[in-house]
Amino acid sequence: MRIVSVVGARPNFMKLAPVDRELAKRRDVEHLIVHTGQHYDRDMSAAFFEELWIPAPDYHLGVGSGSHAAQIAAVLERLEPVLVDLRPDMVVLYGDVNSTLAAALVAAKLGLRVGHVEAGLRSGDWTMSEEVNRVLTDRVSELLFTPSRDAGANLVAEGVAADRIHFVGNVMIDSLCWALPQAAERAAPRHHGLHGTSYVVATLHRPPNVDDPATLALLLDVLGTLSRERPVVFPVHPRARRCLRAAGLTIERGGDLRLIDPVGYLEMLGLVAEATLVITDSGGLQEETTFLGVPCLTVRPNTERPITCRHGTNQLVPPRRDAMLAAAERAVARRAPVRPMIERWDGHTAERIVRVLCHEERFDAQDSDPAHDLPLPAAEPVADYASP
Ligand code: UD1
Repeated sequence: MRIVSVVGARPNFMKLAPVDRELAKRRDVEHLIVHTGQHYDRDMSAAFFEELWIPAPDYHLGVGSGSHAAQIAAVLERLEPVLVDLRPDMVVLYGDVNSTLAAALVAAKLGLRVGHVEAGLRSGDWTMSEEVNRVLTDRVSELLFTPSRDAGANLVAEGVAADRIHFVGNVMIDSLCWALPQAAERAAPRHHGLHGTSYVVATLHRPPNVDDPATLALLLDVLGTLSRERPVVFPVHPRARRCLRAAGLTIERGGDLRLIDPVGYLEMLGLVAEATLVITDSGGLQEETTFLGVPCLTVRPNTERPITCRHGTNQLVPPRRDAMLAAAERAVARRAPVRPMIERWDGHTAERIVRVLCHEERFDAQDSDPAHDLPLPAAEPVADYASP
């Protein structure tokens, strides 16, 4: 059986790693990796392959940056001949980035079978390009691997036949469980002089938060204010770095706000695991903080991962100074003593995915652990989300 995984951007790599490791155990499977090149800086791409023990990609398409249309078009053109040549039995795609959608289209047009890891997540926000990518990728995928039951329910509500949906759990948590001991050994907090102290980790890169100079200035001001009480470490995504430069923003004196280059997976995990609070607009961090029991404020009006708010440590906040400072204070003061347990976020998701891929096993939502069969409480409403 020949399986081709297509990845392209940072959040894809930690989802690919456990699936690759699981497939590598099988003699009857040839697993090939195609990297589109959407992310290309060493610290956004190659560093993740090394730390997560992912073999070097078999094909690199080198698409690089560009408008969304240009990026997607480049993947369409460059991936097609590779898949025509390889004729895989299955194309496996991950997450919701532009490379995911582009690869889904190429595979579907070639009549290839597609499996989508992290299917069914929905923010309901069509202004997010990731939402477009998610919905369209799911539409053309035959096997839909969902991380949570709400994701399966979203697919059913869209008319997807239940036999295409496999409730396998969250593959990001496989990577996290695998990497946590190594992350602890690296002692990132100690290297940053933070071990044993209370500190905040921040990441912000989404267009609504960083493209508008006024919003970016406000967010930087909030982080600066928080940093007067405890250090704030902010690994800056290339997009955010460019926006900071373009807006000519600088850090005010009087606090301990540290803008650093993007960090690798293990360093980030080490920092987050010991953090007092995380402030982010990333998808993955909402899940990782939930698993680790670290309070998280997500600066967005919605989330495609509502389970992290209902059962986890995540809370949505508007990009407003008073709301963010109050939410930060509350989140730190009310930190729960135990970490949340989320159904099938157990480090075995890749095993289930491979059992579906290779043995056509089924993982229905109905097979769930009765302890988790309680109805989901409503997500906390985002009462005062408004422009700053
Ligand atoms: C992409 C994903 C987003 C994910 C994020 C994580 C889409 C639509 N978005 O957003 O879901 O949360 O990755 O990182 O696919 N750049 C570099 N070096 C790199 C990569 C990017 O300098 O290695 C710069 C480029 O100037 C580029 C900009 O960052 O224009 C944005 O990169 P892009 O891949 O287009 O989208 P992200 O904002 O990273």
